[in-house]
Amino acid sequence: MRTIYVLGSLNADLAITTDKFPVEGETVNGSGFKVGCGGKGLNQAIAAAKLGGKVKFCGKIGKDSFGKEMKNWLKINKVNTWHVKTVNDTASGVAEIILNNNNNRIVLDLGANLKISIKDIDAFLLRARKGDIFVTQLENNISAIAYALKVAKEKGMITVLNPAPANVEIKQALNFVDYLIPNETEYEILKDYISKDTNLIVTKGENGYEYISKRACFSEIAPKVKVVDTTGAGDCFVGAFAYMLASGKPVDKGTLDLVTKIASISTTRFGSSISSPTMEEVDKF
Ligand code: RIB
Repeated sequence: MRTIYVLGSLNADLAITTDKFPVEGETVNGSGFKVGCGGKGLNQAIAAAKLGGKVKFCGKIGKDSFGKEMKNWLKINKVNTWHVKTVNDTASGVAEIILNNNNNRIVLDLGANLKISIKDIDAFLLRARKGDIFVTQLENNISAIAYALKVAKEKGMITVLNPAPANVEIKQALNFVDYLIPNETEYEILKDYISKDTNLIVTKGENGYEYISKRACFSEIAPKVKVVDTTGAGDCFVGAFAYMLASGKPVDKGTLDLVTKIASISTTRFGSSISSPTMEEVDKF
């Protein structure tokens, strides 16, 4: 089993459910307020670790209770947190999530997530070896993410980028990406910058995924499930995919269908990182 190195975000997810998204100037009633540990980076790391992956995390939190809880949640889920550092002058990342009828709208304050330095990346990847997996997204400062992708590629790691939320500033670093995993919106924004050498997996919610590489193209729809909350389902997909790479599984239809099944299971439960399944739960599903 190879080690999975995740550079990414940690956000306190403040989620509230409503029957109607408010329009400008409107206040609507909500219910079921919950605070959870999220952030695309944390969600992906935990999804991989819950399946049995050996995962190390690099991220930044503020000196606040959200930060402490998120670091602790990573530890509870057996993710190595040596490279999760606290910054004094900025609050931890926060995501305000409004849930309505299986859809969500999120407002993000990335806070401490934007404080990753080159020094942090160098220390994090110091012991990484050829063939280890590097996973990242776009919720940290883009310059640090681009630098990390370059270092990871130079070390011979297998690099995975989930370009979410989409940001064209990452375009110069796309050459260092082995597997790019956007959703359909992110794909539309980035498609002009994706090289033919990049293996592409476009996630499509209930319509499953589409895999496009030089060697093969295939797709599959997601299994039908009773959806409770789709928040973090894309992250569960990325974390599960990283786990498959780390386990030496081939990137073929069987593997990607299983990854899609794992992400679908996460939508049957409330929350982001808390909703991703263990391998035992996947086997029983
Ligand atoms: O992808 C879901 C995640 O996006 C949430 O956990 C939230 O923190 C935002 O980063």
